[in-house]
Amino acid sequence: MKKRIFILTIFPEYFKPLIECGIAGSALRGERSQDDLKFEVHLINIRDYSKTNYKSVDDTPYGGGPGMVMRADILKDALVEGVVNQFGYQSLADLQVIYTSPRGVVWNNEVAKSFAQEKLSHPTRDIVFIAGRYEGIDERFLENYVDEFYSIGDFVLTGGELAIMLMIDSSIRFVPGILGNKLSSQMDSFEDGLLEHPQYTRPAEFEGKSVPEVLMNGHHKKIEEWQKAEKLRLTNKHRPDLLKK
Ligand SMILES: C[S@@+](CC[C@H](N)C(=O)[O-])C[C@H]1O[C@@H](n2cnc3c(N)ncnc32)[C@H](O)[C@@H]1O
Repeated sequence: MKKRIFILTIFPEYFKPLIECGIAGSALRGERSQDDLKFEVHLINIRDYSKTNYKSVDDTPYGGGPGMVMRADILKDALVEGVVNQFGYQSLADLQVIYTSPRGVVWNNEVAKSFAQEKLSHPTRDIVFIAGRYEGIDERFLENYVDEFYSIGDFVLTGGELAIMLMIDSSIRFVPGILGNKLSSQMDSFEDGLLEHPQYTRPAEFEGKSVPEVLMNGHHKKIEEWQKAEKLRLTNKHRPDLLKK
């Protein structure tokens, strides 16, 4: 099964490292998958759908105020001509259109996991991310074309590109077959409500510090007990709020 991810942006070059590097990159290039689910990323430059002389995509806000607003008509053309028509979809119902915005559902590990299950692994509907810039997007486009909104936190970015990359990177690892070791995502921080325990590798001695003895003796039960105690210790130290939950 082919899973297409479209990204509508005025800065397609932002996404180059995400697609070229690391685990997320190989997943997005369709090189990692399970059950025949292969990702395909298409970067759509919104400017290509502007009919203005200077290929602008924004205009001044009605009612005044600072900054510029992205035009609904140009975004609609990018979505309908650049995605629906160009890639042969029957209608917009074949796509899930996502906009990142401070007004959205706040992203965290649980939301990322549901996103992977319900959106990235959805058998029929492909995904379109819209990257906002300037002061954001004309409300009428959001009302008519966006299915879901996500925020990556209570702060304001200069554009949606980083938010989209963060969402993709942190959710694609929950798609079966993407991480080399199946257990890996289940062992990471937040999975059981706690931070991960400390990790060690060679050399066994570093600047006078040894690896904890318990990890060297191969006693699995004792290692598990140590890891659990360390998870609690680190969570209590760095994120006591998680323990209250
Ligand atoms: C400068 S921001 C616009 C902020 C908007 N005027 C406001 O006050 O909510 C430009 C774009 O960055 C993205 N963005 C900014 N903050 C974000 C956040 N916390 N989460 C997700 N996307 C964000 C949105 O796509 C937004 O359209």
